Amino acid sequence: MENLSLKQTVPRAEVGEVEGILFTKPICSMWNQVWKFKARPDDLLIATYAKAGTTWTQEIVDMIQQNGDVEKCRHATTYRRHPFLEWSMQEYSAVSYSGLELAEAMPSPRTIKTHLPVQLVPPCFWEQNCKIIYMARNAKDNLVSSYHFHRMNKALPDPGTWEEFMEKFMTGKVLWGSWYDHVKGWWKAKDKHRILYLFYEDMKENPKQEIQKILKFLEKDMKSEVLNCLLHNTSFEMMKENPMANYTTEFQGIMDHSVSPFMRKGVVGDWKNYFTVAQNKKFNGDYKKKMADTSLVFHMEL
Ligand code: A3P
Repeated sequence: MENLSLKQTVPRAEVGEVEGILFTKPICSMWNQVWKFKARPDDLLIATYAKAGTTWTQEIVDMIQQNGDVEKCRHATTYRRHPFLEWSMQEYSAVSYSGLELAEAMPSPRTIKTHLPVQLVPPCFWEQNCKIIYMARNAKDNLVSSYHFHRMNKALPDPGTWEEFMEKFMTGKVLWGSWYDHVKGWWKAKDKHRILYLFYEDMKENPKQEIQKILKFLEKDMKSEVLNCLLHNTSFEMMKENPMANYTTEFQGIMDHSVSPFMRKGVVGDWKNYFTVAQNKKFNGDYKKKMADTSLVFHMEL
């Protein structure tokens, strides 16, 4: 397949809505097909709010599925190993492959990525009782990461200033909708479906323990030396240098890593470098209200 590169400068994405949730225009126009997606019983879905650690989870899962074989994991970019279900860039390039196209062409067992809020997951995934891994990240770091990603990625709308973007995040007027509704919706769903709900902060603090949860969920065993190799290869430092995982190989002309690299910092608590005291106060007050109706608790620092 050709590379997803663009010679000319591309304009910023325009947005539309599906069921009150903001998406880029290409996703909106594909929506009917996304909703009708034919999941297979052995599909594994990796679901996250964007910038919660999707790529990290994908690399860990792939390493598990390839029994720790680093070379096999490096046969293709993350985007091609795990189709991004709802993603489409039709308007940008004649050689852009939508997530649907990539998924449909893929032999089973497939691992598919999505950022959809739980209510917009195509019904077939529930009908087929597919396993789902959900990774959640604390709101403040998720917001900071998302802000930088919007700056560097032209397939997303312009974030505006930090202050403006924070406001949009708090009101849910961002792509894939409200972070608050996303994490709460999936948290509720885990009691009814085969969902492993993980946290970025736990993964940072004790990756071995969290990876063991994934192994159990996927009904896989792993020798301790292979697990150690997996831990090494999925560390931030290693992934930052891995062209098959760091998004430098694809989306050239769309992602500008000189503005902000995809593999940016990979830490917990970076929000402290961005939130002013006043912004933090306002955010906390609003957070308390929005999260009053859930048992879900996040660590904002380690
Ligand atoms: P930062 O912008 O805070 O650095 P996603 O894959 O959902 O787009 O999430 C991207 C975020 O996950 C970025 O966060 C990125 O640096 C971080 N990340 C990617 N790989 C990681 C790893 N191996 N360990 C820790 N964080 C990682």
